[in-house]
Amino acid sequence: MKLELRGITKRFGSLVANDHIDLVVNSGEIHSLLGENGAGKSTLMNVLYGLYQADEGEILLDGTVQHFKGPGDAMAAGIGMVHQHFMLIPVFTVAENVVLGNEPTGPLGTLNLDEARKRVREISDRFGFDIDPDALVEDLPVGAQQRVEIIKALARDAKVLVLDEPTAVLTPQETDELMSIMRGLAKSGTSIVFITHKLREVQAVADRITVIRLGAVVGEAKPSESAETLASMMVGRAVDLAVTKHKPKKGNIGLSVTNLTVVGDRHNKVVDDVSFEVHAGEVLAIAGVQGNGQTELAEALVGLRIPSSGTIHLGELDITHSSVREVIDAGVGYIPEDRSKDGLVGDFTIAENVMINRSYGPPFANGLQVDFASRDRITDQLIKDYDVRTPSRETLAKKLSGGNQQKVVVARELSRDLNLLIASQPTRGVDVGSIEFIHERIVATRDAGKPVVIISTELDEVTALADRIAVMFRGRIVGIVDATASRETLGRMMAGATA
Ligand SMILES: Nc1ncnc2c1ncn2[C@@H]1O[C@H](COP(=O)(O)OP(=O)(O)O)[C@@H](O)[C@H]1O
Ligand SMILES: [Mg+2]
Repeated sequence: MKLELRGITKRFGSLVANDHIDLVVNSGEIHSLLGENGAGKSTLMNVLYGLYQADEGEILLDGTVQHFKGPGDAMAAGIGMVHQHFMLIPVFTVAENVVLGNEPTGPLGTLNLDEARKRVREISDRFGFDIDPDALVEDLPVGAQQRVEIIKALARDAKVLVLDEPTAVLTPQETDELMSIMRGLAKSGTSIVFITHKLREVQAVADRITVIRLGAVVGEAKPSESAETLASMMVGRAVDLAVTKHKPKKGNIGLSVTNLTVVGDRHNKVVDDVSFEVHAGEVLAIAGVQGNGQTELAEALVGLRIPSSGTIHLGELDITHSSVREVIDAGVGYIPEDRSKDGLVGDFTIAENVMINRSYGPPFANGLQVDFASRDRITDQLIKDYDVRTPSRETLAKKLSGGNQQKVVVARELSRDLNLLIASQPTRGVDVGSIEFIHERIVATRDAGKPVVIISTELDEVTALADRIAVMFRGRIVGIVDATASRETLGRMMAGATA
């Protein structure tokens, strides 16, 4: 089925999330919608799926204008959508989930469980999904759960399938499997809208690419375009993607973690007997699929979580039970995963944010007296050095774009006299033009002889920065390998296999 979006405009108050967007997806085509975080991709797809009503514009299927009042109408017309967060019920079987997903208005409105089972098996066999209709969803790996979502859409006869950032939660192998499934579906005539911000994936699987920026279409591109060209289209200026990195000059052990265990909110071991060492002048990356204990490990390292056993040493200093304040005072720089929660105070100015946690000593204060002149001078210098795009140092942090907010956090943390840097998802939500800049700063910290720990679910980031890579799976480190390890090896480890 051919999908056409004509002049779609969607406003949220004064914000124009979609600005007269035109998009044509031909029958049997894999069409990539490429754009930075916040470009308006999900909004556009929510309009297509009937979740939002467009303020202007039309949706056409095979040349006929559609009026979707809700997802039921969109599904009935042949649109299927797999959201970033799955909508499955974990304690139900695959077949039960497929039945449940059916809107009464859909073509299979009266589907019973036996039919659903048969249908799941049919679709699974036809496209090589390898899904057992009677398996409990909660027992399936994430990649398989995603295939169940796709089966759900196909069981309802979806002719246009929208996949919104489907690879964010997958290992490289699962990503490859998904791509081959996408190719199979396209070959059978399904039209696919594939949303991602990962250039490698677009280049690998797309037939055509539409790039959007700030809610508007920038242009079309072919997958054969270079990553630099695609990145420049996404951010609207020239982008250099390469990070230059010399061999590490390793020093003494800067951080040692021994048999660390952290118990989570549900009394489970979210970090389970983890041990590793990081030398001065090296980057150790903690890789893994999201949700395997990396966040909790980072939080334990900086004193935000109390370990139930094991030890953490910064050089000779035992910081296992130190408070956040003590950890910071010991010279640990921390770039948190969620900058709006842990990194910045939105209602503070940039200058105030730069001074956070340091307002009690030089260079920002003499005794109880804040040295505003010094603070302002340092802030201005950081804004310049880190290329923070802001009207002034007095601008509120919440007014900055995500990438610029992250630069403020990175500038503040790296400008201190550090004994250790911990960077958790340091470029999440950052535009591709700023990623390389932040990466270079992290490498410079390592080259200045500091131990660095990077926690990242982006394998490209891990391989660009790391000297050694520790892979986490279900709270454990399954192995620590050299950064030269192949994507295949790392992918297998991310699924739990030992190195
Ligand atoms: N329900 C909403 N209410 C207000 N603003 C929204 C809503 N949904 C998205 N936005 C805003 O619209 C813009 C586009 O968001 P989104 O479509 O989610 O981008 P993308 O999927 O490309 O990352 C962003 O600035 C976002 O903050
Ligand atoms: Mg989105």
